Amino acid sequence: MQKTAIITGILGQDGPYLAKLLLEKDYRVFGLMQRHSAPNFENTDWLGVTDKIEFVTGDMTDEGSLLHLVRSIRPAEVYNLAAQSFVGASWDLARVTTEVNSLGVLHLLNALKYHQPTGKFYQAATSEMFGNNHDNGVQTETTSFRPRSPYGISKVYAYWMTVNFRESFGMHTSNGILFNHESPIRGKEFVTRKISDAVAKIKLGLQDKIMLGNLDAKRDWGFAGDYVEAMWMMLQQPEGGDYLVATGEPHSIREFLDLAFKHVGIDDWSDLVGIDPRFKRPAEIHALKGSPQKATETLGWKPKVSFEELVAMMVDADLERQRVKAETPAFSVKAV
Ligand code: GDD
Repeated sequence: MQKTAIITGILGQDGPYLAKLLLEKDYRVFGLMQRHSAPNFENTDWLGVTDKIEFVTGDMTDEGSLLHLVRSIRPAEVYNLAAQSFVGASWDLARVTTEVNSLGVLHLLNALKYHQPTGKFYQAATSEMFGNNHDNGVQTETTSFRPRSPYGISKVYAYWMTVNFRESFGMHTSNGILFNHESPIRGKEFVTRKISDAVAKIKLGLQDKIMLGNLDAKRDWGFAGDYVEAMWMMLQQPEGGDYLVATGEPHSIREFLDLAFKHVGIDDWSDLVGIDPRFKRPAEIHALKGSPQKATETLGWKPKVSFEELVAMMVDADLERQRVKAETPAFSVKAV
């Protein structure tokens, strides 16, 4: 029988990659999106899945909409990717961040408990929960949480609620503690895409300079397309669990910049990058390096795309976007 899945956050970065994976596995995919007068399907279009997803309207802050959704679809799997996911904005939007990222998860878990208790649940947890904590320079599933942003705090609540529904009600719920994962459809507010977009424009003479915050922070960056496979693998296990998904390879923002500029033939980028304190965080996480050992041993998951390939893929995609834009007339008159 065909499996049914609900993906929340379907129009973000991970939603389209996961939808593509599930559609290839012959799932029926429902994508939850907020009501919007002009929804942006750019990311699902990019992956060629817009027409294959069944879009449904709902909101993580509206429990009734989630109860209705789960009761009418009765999904085999629910992937909760919806979030206010930009750490930098979470200080100014602490309440919205909490309502969506914390209470929204409680609403969704309740909807499953009441209407589809056998449905399996995936929660998009995050390395932001660790803050600057580590064990000998590495984060693992047993490293203690010490979040440093309203975003990180909101995700810790959701993590424990997901564990609690497993322990209290025997539900198949899992947390994927995903480290930073990027792709050509990453939002431009995140540092990697901000850089790839700017590097493409600078190369083509469309932008003079890029303004950034802290260049010394280190992140463990992987490719979103690889990470959604781990999400699916977690829900195929006999029981729910908590898994860390990372490459184990930290790189600084400076290294990302260096590779991105070198990819377009610019070796000395010192005059092309400026520092703007507005892009610095009130509390920074200095370095993240995750061990994916449990995911590798239990799920058989491994990252496939290297850091160098990821940077090249993102810069190439932004160069291509600019090329297409330049070739598209500002407006065209359709023959009728
Ligand atoms: N966004 C941004 N913009 N970040 C900058 C900038 C800038 O101009 N300059 C330096 N940075 C630094 C940030 O201070 C941070 O240390 C690092 O670049 C990465 O920032 P983001 O790309 O915004 O990602 P993030 O690490 O804060 O959060 C992402 O990864 C988490 C997993 O660890 C998001 O995807 C979260 O939703 C996710 O949970």
